[in-house]
Amino acid sequence: MRSIAFGLLGVGGVGSTLLNLLNDEIVRTEIAARAGVLFQPHLLADRRGILVSPHGLDASRVRQALEAKAAGGSVGEAPGGGSASSFDDVWAALQEMGSLHGFILVDATASDGTVPLLLRVLDAGGCVVLANKRPLTGEWGDFLRLTASRRCRFEATVGAGLPVIRTLQSLLDTGDRVLSIQGVFSGTLAYICTALNRGERYSDAVRAAMQAGYTEPDPRDDLGGIDVARKALILCRMMGQSLELRDVHVTSMIPSALEGLDLPAFLERLPEGDAEVNAVVQDAASRGVRLSYVANIGGEVPVVGLHEVLPDSPIGRLAGTDNIVVFRTARYRNSPMVIQGPGAGREVTAGGILADMVDLALSMP
Ligand SMILES: NC(=O)c1ccc[n+]([C@@H]2O[C@H](COP(=O)([O-])OP(=O)(O)OC[C@H]3O[C@@H](n4cnc5c(N)ncnc54)[C@H](OP(=O)(O)O)[C@@H]3O)[C@@H](O)[C@H]2O)c1
Repeated sequence: MRSIAFGLLGVGGVGSTLLNLLNDEIVRTEIAARAGVLFQPHLLADRRGILVSPHGLDASRVRQALEAKAAGGSVGEAPGGGSASSFDDVWAALQEMGSLHGFILVDATASDGTVPLLLRVLDAGGCVVLANKRPLTGEWGDFLRLTASRRCRFEATVGAGLPVIRTLQSLLDTGDRVLSIQGVFSGTLAYICTALNRGERYSDAVRAAMQAGYTEPDPRDDLGGIDVARKALILCRMMGQSLELRDVHVTSMIPSALEGLDLPAFLERLPEGDAEVNAVVQDAASRGVRLSYVANIGGEVPVVGLHEVLPDSPIGRLAGTDNIVVFRTARYRNSPMVIQGPGAGREVTAGGILADMVDLALSMP
């Protein structure tokens, strides 16, 4: 049995779930039996604190760190933890561990400042697993540096635990020619579009999504489409398109009447957006098509926004909060390859991270 050391940046919803998964007896036993490895946390860091042990953090210290997080504190409050947590501090702590060959650093933050640390780990022979999309959606040069080796994995960045990244990687590795990728990458917007296509008002659909807990605290973070644009950019860049986030053509789902408001005013005046959005939906319905918030990849730039789809197409049949990705390639030209399922959620996202960690462990000499 090999013990694989790992560090975790970001012990929020996804990071905590990953630690709990790795503490689950069934998960540990399966990983040990199938991959012959045991993942051992050596470093945990959040915005305010850091907890490190060069010999590995035992289960009780991880539990204490999780208890501190659950109480609204920091991992640094667990015994032996510290308060400083810049990424330079994390790097200093990692260097004290000795060789980073075979070490895995997981980025489960939503920070855009992790790239230098991630590159240092990769340069030192370590591995990186990302749930955080930002490192891959900043400068194109950073994307190239991060993905120069297969020691950087990022399955959870697109579709959470759905095998989107590994599927595209395998199509590209085996010389298939990707003609187009069409994807619904936001469960929240999928839910809102399903309600709109049923004839519900825009304001009711947005409020229902908020009440169900599907949106970010500010629903415009979902409605603006930038998160979908980041996912589309990652797929385009994997295919060699040297694009920046500003190149992605994004049309938001925020009606023009509601642009530029502060959050309370936006929420209060939501019904003022009904006429604009519902007119577009009714026009589509009158022509027998549905609307879906789609990322279209395959042209010169990705196009993200409301898109008409046929009701009996894979995307047209989508309901609820599922994500879907439709790959059309030279080999899958007439009947496309389709991947569908929940594209967000702590458990499936942590599962996507774990899949990358297991893959990395299996590829280590
Ligand atoms: N949730 C999902 O379904 C899902 C799906 C796919 C991908 N993701 C991605 O996974 C990442 C984590 O998501 P989440 O839902 O777990 O978010 P979250 O609950 O907000 O947790 C984020 C964690 O990152 C830490 N953090 C933020 N900035 C940091 C910094 N500069 N230095 C150190 N730690 C920092 C936070 O520290 P504090 O605790 O101190 O604030 C927190 O522990 C995000 O990038 C998200 O986009 C999430």
